[in-house]
Amino acid sequence: MFTLDRLPTGLALFVLTSSQLASAFYLPGITPTNYKTGDLVQLNVNHLTPSQSQKDANVRSAFSFDYYHHAFHFCQPDGGPQSVSESLGSILFGDRIQTSPYQLKMQVNETCRAVCDEAVFEPRDAKFVNRRIHQSYNLNWLVDGLPAGQPYKDPNTDTEFYMPGFALGGVQNEQPRLNNHYDILIDYHEVRREQHRIVGITVEPSSFGESKRTGDGEDHSADCGNPDVPMVLDEDGQSRVTWTYSVYWRPSATSFATRWDKYLHVYDPKIHWFSLINSAVIVIFLIGMVSTVLVRTLRKDIKRYNRLDQLGLDDLGGGDSVEDGVVEDSGWKLVHGDVFRAPKHSLALAVLVGNGAQLFMMTGFTIAFAVIGFLSPSNRGSLATVMILLYTFFGFIGGYVSSRVYKSFSGTKWKPLFVLTPSAVPAIVFSVFFLLNLFVWARQSSGAVPFTTMLVIIGIWFVITLPLSIAGSWIGFKQPQKDAPVRTNQIPRQIPPASGYLRPLPGILIVGVLPFGAIFVELYFVMNSLWSHRIYYMFGFLFLSFGLLIVTSAAVTILMVYFVLCAENYHWQWRAFASSGASAIYVFAYSLLYWARMLNFSSFTGGLLYLGYSLLISFLWFVMSGTTGFFASWVFVHRIYGSLKVD
Ligand SMILES: *[C@@H]1O[C@H](CO)[C@@H](O)[C@H](O)[C@H]1NC(C)=O
Repeated sequence: MFTLDRLPTGLALFVLTSSQLASAFYLPGITPTNYKTGDLVQLNVNHLTPSQSQKDANVRSAFSFDYYHHAFHFCQPDGGPQSVSESLGSILFGDRIQTSPYQLKMQVNETCRAVCDEAVFEPRDAKFVNRRIHQSYNLNWLVDGLPAGQPYKDPNTDTEFYMPGFALGGVQNEQPRLNNHYDILIDYHEVRREQHRIVGITVEPSSFGESKRTGDGEDHSADCGNPDVPMVLDEDGQSRVTWTYSVYWRPSATSFATRWDKYLHVYDPKIHWFSLINSAVIVIFLIGMVSTVLVRTLRKDIKRYNRLDQLGLDDLGGGDSVEDGVVEDSGWKLVHGDVFRAPKHSLALAVLVGNGAQLFMMTGFTIAFAVIGFLSPSNRGSLATVMILLYTFFGFIGGYVSSRVYKSFSGTKWKPLFVLTPSAVPAIVFSVFFLLNLFVWARQSSGAVPFTTMLVIIGIWFVITLPLSIAGSWIGFKQPQKDAPVRTNQIPRQIPPASGYLRPLPGILIVGVLPFGAIFVELYFVMNSLWSHRIYYMFGFLFLSFGLLIVTSAAVTILMVYFVLCAENYHWQWRAFASSGASAIYVFAYSLLYWARMLNFSSFTGGLLYLGYSLLISFLWFVMSGTTGFFASWVFVHRIYGSLKVD
């Protein structure tokens, strides 16, 4: 028998198993490694990424470079660098993690050691590197899964945190100085005697123009020279550079479980909260007001329509009252014989809606997983990997939805539907992606997705998405179709010409602005982390914004559809999709504004890349957001015409 006192045990058991589940998800970044004094700690290197410049906070490039790009002349480990295995998502988002020659030993401090023999920079390489310094490129190192950061003090809260990445060089008096020395500071936490865990790493780079290696062979000792003489690469002749480093191990009270907190610092939580709550309140207020008015009007309409109907039927003798009824029969009821008429190009709409549903599910589940904490940044690339996997498996939903919608349109071209649903949108995305990738590849940037990864993605699509989508479409095709609430007439009604905001383009633009307005603050943060290579982790905000986006899109689109129907225009399907999707137009415009304000690409291809990706994101946004509005209107139209008594 189940009694109340059993409940806590059950609950505890549940919490225990779910936390075990969570730890199973976390594995790579979260299982602590214990080091004894003198144990070798591996330092891995990732690609070089552009960051915001110190001068005007602009980002000047969109490309990342491989750490072992020949022009940088960074020291290589014996036998050449090895690739560290990574997840698919991590590779897609540009991570290129490799081994390094740095020899860090737990708790062993070292000062001024040469990494390898001096490197010789020819003028061409010097030009290349100086340009990268001007563009504020950052080095990205990883120690024990933690990114090497630079200490930074938040002026608002006066707390110290670590900003991932450190500068390749600096510019002083227009002169680029290469940082060839690194002070590596590692925080460790002693769990027990002889059990140390790494809980933080910062690197302070500096430029030492006179450093020389003094030892030979295994002896890496060096002389760092006068710290006031910077290392400047000569663009007209050869320059000799010795890469040096020092290591300092600092005991720390930070525990392993909280070691990421220092990296995930919320810049302005107050502003963030304020703006989000602000827009949420406005939006909810608006929607509440509008929907009360709408529901009241609708109730009145329905009552009146049904009463008139009754009058017309019961009072056969009184021709006058029937006449009256016809006169008063106006507004959305008039189009009841046409609202469920299939729209033009119903195949295209069904395909788009199916894909939108797939994207919607993917986005929703990814954000939900991230909010629960399954996708912590300690697990590199997990976010992108989960996104790809979810997209792949939700192919089933895409197929199902598109064929259900197509069936309700009484479509007949089933074969094209089966093929186009899983292929049309992915083909567009993939071709744009492939084209952009060609440019990245031509720039010798490491951001280019390797050919093998592309093949893997195509393979996954072929083996999983395609069959799943076709299976979904098939099931949707086989299911019996429920009748529409009202019959559709043989002959289509004439549609009176629209005016003002009911014309297609103004109407679409008006509807799009509100959902965008509700979320654009969060959009700014997402774009910031995307283009200046920061870690994004404010998934709670993102979750709320996603909710706001859905609610706003749905509400405003329903309102627009109501007005359109009242104007005796029954072409609501495409209108609903396009109106709700129109927020994508604003997203694109906003990304252009962001470009003008925050980015300052010094090459044509950088701009092209930015434009391409922005277009791609806006397109996917259009499909996803349009689907939200379409289904909201779908439910609305079915509800209101379902409560009519016709015939
Ligand atoms: C290593 O350097 C750090 C920072 O200067 C210092 O706090 C620590 O005591 C040093 N450790 C050893 C073993 O000398």
